[in-house]
Amino acid sequence: MAKWGILGTGKIARRFMQAAFYVPEAQVVAVGSRSQATADQFGSQFGIPKRYGSYEGVLNDPDVEIVYVATPHNLHAENALAALRAGKHVLCEKPFTVNARQAEQVIAAARQTDRFVMEGMWTRCFPVMQEVHRRVLAGEIGALRYLQADFGFQPPFDPHSRLFSPELAGGALLDVGIYPIALAFWFLGEPQEVVSLATRGETGVDVLEGVVFRYTNGAIATLSASLQVNTPKQAFLCGTEGMFHFPTPWWKPSEAFLVRPDGSQEHLLYPYEGDGLQFEIRHVHTCLQQGLRESPLMPLEETLRIVRLMDRLRAEWGVRYPFEG
Ligand SMILES: NC(=O)c1ccc[n+]([C@@H]2O[C@H](COP(=O)([O-])OP(=O)(O)OC[C@H]3O[C@@H](n4cnc5c(N)ncnc54)[C@H](OP(=O)(O)O)[C@@H]3O)[C@@H](O)[C@H]2O)c1
Repeated sequence: MAKWGILGTGKIARRFMQAAFYVPEAQVVAVGSRSQATADQFGSQFGIPKRYGSYEGVLNDPDVEIVYVATPHNLHAENALAALRAGKHVLCEKPFTVNARQAEQVIAAARQTDRFVMEGMWTRCFPVMQEVHRRVLAGEIGALRYLQADFGFQPPFDPHSRLFSPELAGGALLDVGIYPIALAFWFLGEPQEVVSLATRGETGVDVLEGVVFRYTNGAIATLSASLQVNTPKQAFLCGTEGMFHFPTPWWKPSEAFLVRPDGSQEHLLYPYEGDGLQFEIRHVHTCLQQGLRESPLMPLEETLRIVRLMDRLRAEWGVRYPFEG
């Protein structure tokens, strides 16, 4: 049994609980909320025995082994640091932190405390994504030369919501743009050159952006994200001998298509129940069973490289959060 405690009771925390249902060895023993009433409501809905009206309650609970940080981006570093210092392992929602300085602090704390920490880049945990990754690395589509991925959606505009509020580290990049970027890093590594354009919205955060990566071997990735419009939400990996296509929603895929140069197709179908967070939960359990302190699927060095790149993009676009000084 792996004993989890959850910080925050929002949308992803609910989805985590629904996914944990498919992982019998995951036992969620505690939930923490800013409000006792919310913790009680969440706890009774999902059968969580211990309900705290603070995040510290979860961190101080000796039964909790792994903390799932499900709070807005601006709290990730603070919550993860507190959990590590309380001796807990941590699965921290994406983006790991708002900026590289915070990420470095969390990683240093994990190393000091000898605890596991991972950014919740759940896309990499889906079986079909892993299968495609394995096949691309094995050369099945020849040399990977071009990657295209987008994630744009149209939430209702609320300047105070975590998506649009600068105080809560809003903006498309940290919320959804990170998915195409992490996909490109996983398949092609760190780019040599990066060019981008972004449009900022009413609250000053980025709401629409296009980013192009070029690699030392000449491969190119074109990535886009938005909080203003729905985009196709698909991913393509194009090689000299074929192409893998992930239809929407590519970041939590149950299928992919291999399209060969002669036009023939192979359908990779990996249906799953619920929303799919169960693969990430199981992955964390596997890492811990193996005594690992970081995930081989989402290594901390890669998390750091991605957040550094996002710092650079935000600096170019003039998106600086008030708490960053
Ligand atoms: N992997 C995914 O697919 C995925 C999907 C969505 C989100 N996420 C990530 O998960 C994190 C949370 O996203 P979410 O969609 O679940 O957000 P959400 O619905 O707004 O929930 C966030 C929770 O954090 C707590 N919180 C603490 N301080 C807050 C503040 N100042 N304002 C609002 N909430 C605050 C609240 O719980 P209490 O009131 O109980 O303390 C709230 O319910 C984000 O970093 C996001 O990137 C990941």
